[in-house]
Amino acid sequence: MKVAVLGAAGGIGQPLSMILKNSLPAGSELSLYDVAPFTPGVAKDLSHIPTDVAVEGFTGAPDDDSVVQTAVKDADVVVIPAGVARKPGMTRQDLFNINAGIVANLVKNIAIAAPKACICIISNPVNSTVPIAAEVLKAKGVYDKHRLFGVSVLDVIRSETFLGEELGLSKASVQVPVIGGHSGNTILPLLSQVIGHEQIPQNRIEEITKRIQNAGTEVVEAKAGAGSATLSMATAGARFALKVVAGLCGAEGVNEYAYVDGGDKNAPFFAQRVRFGKEGWDKAYDYGTLNAYEQGILDSMKEELNGNIKAGVEFAEGWIKDKI
Ligand SMILES: NC(=O)c1ccc[n+]([C@@H]2O[C@H](COP(=O)([O-])OP(=O)(O)OC[C@H]3O[C@@H](n4cnc5c(N)ncnc54)[C@H](O)[C@@H]3O)[C@@H](O)[C@H]2O)c1
Repeated sequence: MKVAVLGAAGGIGQPLSMILKNSLPAGSELSLYDVAPFTPGVAKDLSHIPTDVAVEGFTGAPDDDSVVQTAVKDADVVVIPAGVARKPGMTRQDLFNINAGIVANLVKNIAIAAPKACICIISNPVNSTVPIAAEVLKAKGVYDKHRLFGVSVLDVIRSETFLGEELGLSKASVQVPVIGGHSGNTILPLLSQVIGHEQIPQNRIEEITKRIQNAGTEVVEAKAGAGSATLSMATAGARFALKVVAGLCGAEGVNEYAYVDGGDKNAPFFAQRVRFGKEGWDKAYDYGTLNAYEQGILDSMKEELNGNIKAGVEFAEGWIKDKI
């Protein structure tokens, strides 16, 4: 497997690359790219870890497409945490203007140099950056919905932690479906489907749901201007990328929640459980029965989520006219 990380020198990119260096199957290649000039140094540092994963680092100016194409050449999986992170008072939507263009340009280069890659987008706002990537891939004639993922699994790992704490269970044993989108009100944890939820009173369910929806802001405020979630996100991103790799390698029964073009009735892109196969995700699961509280959240988020998707598509249309 060749896995490329774009934005590899950042707060998420470095620990994510470290976990991948330690966990990818022997014989894999890890290719790191970032506009930060010390990126080859990050690769050198990781190369001293004794695993059978080759690491190379690339850097260049943001408009140097050839270096991005070299970094991603024939990659099986590309993970994108490139861009700017949230500061206190900013919403994920505030990141849109900067990160939209960064993601569009990186995806254009992936379409040229690694058209079969599974692309995992971490850069926020994921609700919009994933539709942007889809439009750019369509414009380049290489869009395959089974190979494009928004990484929403941080919402899942936070839910596992908070529910494990609430129920007094090992966090590793708790499973929580999280559907919808990946910002504030669009994040919908289905706590009614968690084993043991009957022990939790409804007012606590509502408090925990809101905590999951706002957990990103909890970290942004606690870091007081130094950025957003990086270590938990790197853990989530690596868990996700390693599952994509496992599916590509032929492992069976590997599942995770992801924000995909999976045919959900609520929005063209929707976080839902998918199964990973040799060609990307090969099955998207229905989310089952919601209770009245969850259905209310779903009904109230649809406008916002569809608006985020529309904003991404409109941005992409302008960007494509200008740059492709
Ligand atoms: N999906 C999620 O759950 C989730 C969670 C947390 C953060 N994020 C998002 O991930 C992104 C990265 O966060 P971070 O904390 O690592 O930020 P960071 O600022 O620490 O790192 C971002 C990196 O991207 C690099 N970069 C900028 N422009 C680039 C370009 N054109 N090409 C390649 N690299 C480029 C920067 O040099 C930097 O090293 C942000 O958009 C953030 O909002 C997503």
